[in-house]
Parts: sequence; structure tokens; C-alpha cells
Amino acid sequence: MKKEFLLQVFADKFAGQTGTVYASPGRINLIGEHTDYNGGFVFPGAVEQGIMAVIRPNGTDTVRAYSIDLDDYAEWTVNGPKGPEATCFRFVYGVARELIERGVAVGGFDTVFAGDVPLGAGMSSSAALESCFAYGLNDLFGGSISRWDMVLAGQATEHKYIGCNCGIMDQFASVFGQAGKLMRLDCRSREFEYFPFEPKGYRLVLVNSCVKHELAGSPYNDRRRSCENVAAAIQALHPDRKIETLRDCTWEDLEAVKATCSAEDIQRATFVLGEKDRVLAVCDALVKGDYEEVGKQMYLTHQGLSRDYEVSCEELDFLNDLAKECGVTGSRIMGGGFGGCTINLVKDELYDAFTKRAVEAYEAKYGITPKIIDVVIGDGSRKIG
Ligand code: GLA
Repeated sequence: MKKEFLLQVFADKFAGQTGTVYASPGRINLIGEHTDYNGGFVFPGAVEQGIMAVIRPNGTDTVRAYSIDLDDYAEWTVNGPKGPEATCFRFVYGVARELIERGVAVGGFDTVFAGDVPLGAGMSSSAALESCFAYGLNDLFGGSISRWDMVLAGQATEHKYIGCNCGIMDQFASVFGQAGKLMRLDCRSREFEYFPFEPKGYRLVLVNSCVKHELAGSPYNDRRRSCENVAAAIQALHPDRKIETLRDCTWEDLEAVKATCSAEDIQRATFVLGEKDRVLAVCDALVKGDYEEVGKQMYLTHQGLSRDYEVSCEELDFLNDLAKECGVTGSRIMGGGFGGCTINLVKDELYDAFTKRAVEAYEAKYGITPKIIDVVIGDGSRKIG
């Protein structure tokens, strides 16, 4: 994506004017899925693909916005109660309002935006969009909120304006990402560490099933509710302890509420407790440079996401089986699930054979060409001109 192109479109739409250009990336996640809203650990990194926006304050209280990708235009009052209807603009509207709530004097602005992170692929195109505007509007309207406030403004936008009760992983990765580094984030304390990721002899590659996922108002929120139900049941049994999330629960705790919670809730909590253990196993393995172990844990995560958490689909299971057949070190669904990509840890020498086979076999079965996306870990939210 070229900023010159965006600036040209901006000039065409807004009477030859120019503006400031901002960018924010999508993300990958090595391991730690559906752990963020359970107070657990995640292991994401920003990718090179993302959203770019040209923004210019216009001195009124009206926002005029054009989405290049959707060829759609909308206008609304910046802090008006209703806002635009189209989802892509609701993200922008929500973020501006959340920034205002956090003390940034956001006024009207003109904007043009576009992205190269595939929509509905589990790579967090929506967090990229939110973070891009959180960063850009804070910068342009003299705000002084922290990067964490930007993350929280993006997350609140999902909750209040989109209807997805997501955790903080995606917005965190988009805002804080650094080239070449993954980040291990403790979603409860919000402490995090950058991890240079140089798996010698291996690479990460995504295979996009092109089954589009949609998290808003979806079974995603049901999964979260199941986790909260189980945590509440465990808290009720142990008034002496503070059980905020499943992070605070042990396997014994889970066993003790088997009779009082629904089988479905227990099954979902079983995945989360297992994923908690897997993230720690992967951290150890990374320190030792043991990528075979990392891969093993990735396959186990896939199994859990598919059988217990039930967020897979036939196509993603097919891609996972294919990876196993090809001798890929690790493979699993990435992100919320219900479609999108698998993330694969593959040895250099297997890369060509695996990607070729994945494309051919998937095409033959589903009549769709899956997209192969090489992972390059890029930078987080920034001003680019
Ligand atoms: C989506 C959500 C995140 C996280 C993942 C699953 O991407 O936005 O907060 O819960 O799903 O790990």
C-alpha cells in the first residue's frame, strides 16, 4: 500500500487538500487463543499488512470519511449520539467518541483510508482500523493519552459500537508491535515483554481458508459467557478466594463444578485451562529454542479449539490435517476462529512442498484458492508522513 496513492485519493475527494498519514497493522498470534478475556497470556506480533489513513481536521464538528476498499462514503457529527451505520465507519465513529471520553478534544475531520490486511481472516483488520484512528486522532487533536489508552479505546469500540466482547490482544498487538519481535502479554496485569523471534530453519506462514469470519454478535460472545459462568461457579464455591477469571482456576476447581455447570460451559473452560498450560509450555520451549515442542503445542491448541471450544470449521480442520500430513512442525487456527487462517510453523525445506500441496488440495476439495501469506513481523501504530 502506498501513501502517495492515499494522498492522491484524499486530494481528489477533498478539494485538493492534503493530510497526515497514519498506519496500524494487523496481527498474528503464536499461541494463547481465547485466553485474553480470561486474564491469561497471549503471544502476538504485528504484521506488515495493516490499515493506512489520511486524516485532516476540518474545523467543523462533522466527519467526512471515504473507504477506498469498499468505495463507500459517510458523514456524521463527531460526537453525535447516532453515528454512521456501515460497520467500517462505526469503528471510526466509536474510536473518536472513546477518545473524547478519555479527554482528547476530537473535532471534525476529513479522512480517506484503505487496508491490505484481509478482512475476516482472523488477522484483526478491525483492530488495525481502530488503532490507526486512535493513534492518528490523538496526535492531530493534541491529545496526550498513552498507547494503553489507545488499546482500551479500540476495545471499548468493539464492545459498545460493534457488539463484540473481545479481549485486548488484537488492539494491543496493533498499537505496540515492533518489527521482528513477538510480544508475551499478561492480559491481567498488562505487563509485557518483547521476544525477538528468529526461528532458525523455520518460518511462519498463514493459509487463509477464505471462509470469512464475523465475530460481532456471534458465538464468540457465547464462548466468553461460558468462561464467565464457570469462573462465577468456582467463586461461589470459594468465597475466601478472589476468582476474577479462569486464570485464577485450577483443574481441581473445574472438576468441583462439573455437576453444577452445563456440560457445554465445562467443555469450553477445559479448553481455556489447557491453553493456559500450553502458553507456558511454549514460553519454555522458545527459551530453549525447541521449535518441535512449540509445534506440538500448536497442534494441541488446534485440537482444543476444534473439539472443545468449537470455533473451527470443516475447511480449517482440513488445512490442519493437511499440514500434519505434510510434516509441518505446528499448525492451528489463528484468532477468534469460525473461519480465517491457519498459522503454520514450517521447516524451510518443507515450505515449497507444503504451500503447493495446501493450495492444490484445498482448491480440489472446495473450489477456492486459499491465500498463502508469509508472516513478516512489522511495526505497530505510527505516523508515516
Ligand atoms: C479475537 C478477539 C481477541 C481474542 C481472539 C482469540 O481476535 O478480538 O480479543 O479473544 O479472538 O484469541
